Order: sequence, then C-alpha cells, then structure tokens
Amino acid sequence: MAKLWAGRTDGQTTQIADDFNSSIRFDSRMYKQDIEGSMAHAGMLAAQGIISQQDADTLIDGLAGILADLQSGKLEIDLTAEDIHMFVEQVLTQRLGDVGKKLHTARSRNDQVALDIRLYLNEEITEISALVKNLIAAVTNKAEAYYDAIMPGYTHLQRAQPITFGHHLMAYAMMLLRDLQRLSDCRKRMMSQSPIGCCALAGTTYDTDRNFEAEKLGFTGISLNSLDGVSDRDFAAELLSAISILMVHLSRFSEEIILWSSWEFKFIELSDAYTTGSSIMPQKKNPDMAELVRGKSGRVFGDLIGLLTTLKGLPLAYNKDMQEDKEGVFDAVDTVKMCLQVFAPMVDTLTANRENMKRAAQKGFINATDLADYLVKKGLPFRSAYKISGELVALCIANNQVLEELPLETYRKYSPLFDSDLYKEIDLVTCVEKRTSQGGTSFSSVQAQITYVRQVLSND
Ligand code: ARG
Repeated sequence: MAKLWAGRTDGQTTQIADDFNSSIRFDSRMYKQDIEGSMAHAGMLAAQGIISQQDADTLIDGLAGILADLQSGKLEIDLTAEDIHMFVEQVLTQRLGDVGKKLHTARSRNDQVALDIRLYLNEEITEISALVKNLIAAVTNKAEAYYDAIMPGYTHLQRAQPITFGHHLMAYAMMLLRDLQRLSDCRKRMMSQSPIGCCALAGTTYDTDRNFEAEKLGFTGISLNSLDGVSDRDFAAELLSAISILMVHLSRFSEEIILWSSWEFKFIELSDAYTTGSSIMPQKKNPDMAELVRGKSGRVFGDLIGLLTTLKGLPLAYNKDMQEDKEGVFDAVDTVKMCLQVFAPMVDTLTANRENMKRAAQKGFINATDLADYLVKKGLPFRSAYKISGELVALCIANNQVLEELPLETYRKYSPLFDSDLYKEIDLVTCVEKRTSQGGTSFSSVQAQITYVRQVLSND
C-alpha cells in the first residue's frame, strides 16, 4: 500500500509489515485530541502568515467536519491506516484536495503524537480524579457512620490496640487524598510543556509561534528543548506511577475487605450486588470485586514497568519503540477507572457488624497498654508497669480470663497502686476516647479527620 511518506522509498510495504507497523488499533482513541491539535496548528500557521487565513479556515472547518462525523459514526476509522495522525490527514486531503496537504507544514508526527498523548491523558486525569473524589466521599461517609464502632487495631495482623472502624476507614481516605494530589501534580508538570512545534526533532525554519498553540490547547508553557519535547514520556511514567500507588491503596483496602468479610472475621457484610456465588458451593458469598481489584493492581504495575523498560535504552530523539508507550498507559487508565467505579459503591453499600468487631476487640488484651499507662500515671516507671501488665495478661491466658474479669485483690497482688478506678481505665470505650492526640482514634479526632477531608474535597 502506498504511503503518505512515500518518497525516498516507493512506500510499497508488505501486508505483514503494515500490520506490524500500524498503531491505529489503539491510537485511534486519541482522534479528538489529534484533531484539536491540528486545529490549533492551522490557526497558528495562519496567524504567523505561513498559510493564508482562508486556507486555515478551510482546514479548521474540514477538521471540525471529520470530528463531527467520527463522533456521530458517519465516518469510521479505517483500520488499514498506519496511525490516527495519518488517517485524519488522509481524510482531510480526500475531502479538501490540495489545501489538506498544507496542514503538516512545520510539524511532524513526532511532536504530534507527543502532543496527543498529553492532551488525552489530561482528560483522563480529570476523569480519574473525579472517581477518586467519589470514592473518598464514600469512605468518609462510611467512617462517619461508624466513627464510634470499636474494633481491634492490628500490627503484624495481631490485635494491638482498640480503634474505631471510622478511624481505620479514614486512613484510606488520607491515602486517597494523596493520590489525588499526585494526579494533580502530574497534570501540572505535563501541561506545562507543550511539545508541539518541536517538529521532527530539531525545530523548524518557519516562523512559528509555539506559545500560540500551547495556549490554545490549555498548556501553561512549552518544552524548551525540541529533542526533549519529542522524546519525553516522563509524564506517562509519572502518571503510571501515581496510578500504581493508587492501585496499591485499593489493593490493600481490598485485602482488608476480603479478610473482614470472611467467616473468621465477620466484621463486615458486603452488599449482594458486589459479591458472587459459587457454582458448586451453595453457602458461598465471594468478595470477587475486591479480589479483582487486588489482582488488577499487578497488571497496572506491569504497565508501569513495561513503559520504563521501553524507554530505558532509547537514544534521542524519537524512536519507533515509543509507539509501545500507548497500550500500557491506556490499559492502566482503563483499569484504574473500572476499579474505582466498582469500589465506591461497594464501600457505600457495605455494613459493619459492630458486635463482632467489639467482641474481637475484647478478646485480644488490647487494653494491656492502657493498663500499663494506668500504673505510669500513678507514678510507676513505664518499663515496670509494662512488666506487671504483661504478667497479668499471662495470668489471664492461663486461666482463660480477660483483664476486665480479674478481681481487684488479684490486681493488688501485683501492685498496691491498683484501685477500683482501673476498670474504667481499661474499658475499651475509655481506651479509644482517651486517644485524643491529633490523628488518634478518639471519636473527636476521627470527626476532625472527616471534617478536614471534606474541606479539602470542597476546596478542590
Ligand atoms: N504512530 C507513531 C507513534 O505512536 C506516531 C509517530 C510516528 N513517527 C515516525 N517518525 N514514524 O509513535
């Protein structure tokens, strides 16, 4: 098939070479950004007197027509075209004749593709951020509903100290808030360096105005080295890193949802709408959505590593290897959006079992620190208090008892500082309520965290 770039060669490539070389199967999703970029480019060419205003108007109208026809389905993407850039230019030239051939003045597909990906990802960041916000809102609402639901807090997956379910959930809200900031930081850097006008690699002899195009397309600045402008895919790696970290958070959250909804824990119950059954075991209610999110985190990390590996050995400037940047990035943004879409309603509809959480908190001696602190407040050095508390726990374990059940006489055998007020001090609600340090688990502290997160969201 003869190519737009036929010249030095006769452009007659074999079918297998065409198929191998072509990227239209996956880069056609950037058709809107490609056309918008071309419109800005035509406008700039006229503003600089490189083409006539009349030609620019014709080109812009023609491009608008192609966009409308693609959106309405009147025009179909031709999958035998090499890539989306070639396809748009080919249709434009078919429709406009020779004027269409003027569009590619002072431009190359190298700066064009670098531009299109940025514009495309800019829109994806908006969508992903909205979904993250939605999830944060769901998590925060759930935290508010359970701000006083006592549960065991864990370290090493061993019961450690009492916390509330609200407190635990707000930890995820904080992580997701940082994810949101990372997405926004990434966008800022990406949109501060418009590559259009870098041309193939060295810039151009035409009197172009790169800032004109950049501004029209929503950039805050231009890339200041043309070699860098066409070779840079940092923004894609940065976005994939941000998405990977976000997936780590979703995956950890999923793992807890899976654990909590097991028979062993029974801390939460997922809505039937976000679980599946087994084809053979009638009693099963499986947390497939959470498991899939956990599973899909691996493929997103793979997308990041794939891109980094593609880039790591490339000499400057553009190399065809870079065509491999797109599928992984698209896969990652598609995947994270699906995960977020299912995650928010899954959190929104889950219910927590306060009794089971409380019961689990009562059995693990998770007030042993508070018992030690009680003695410290009565004047004993912490290490000595720690030892006494530990011995009392050992005694309880030997007798199958909990600290709350030991009579005062027993306590006094270990230290004369013990008094009847100790029971109030080791009550789980007291243990939680006393942890008023900023960020702690007390009801008021969790409320403050909820207020903070909502404020950040509403200022955004
Ligand atoms: N389809 C190509 C890509 O995605 C567009 C750039 C082609 N540039 C070139 N010099 N062959 O990377």
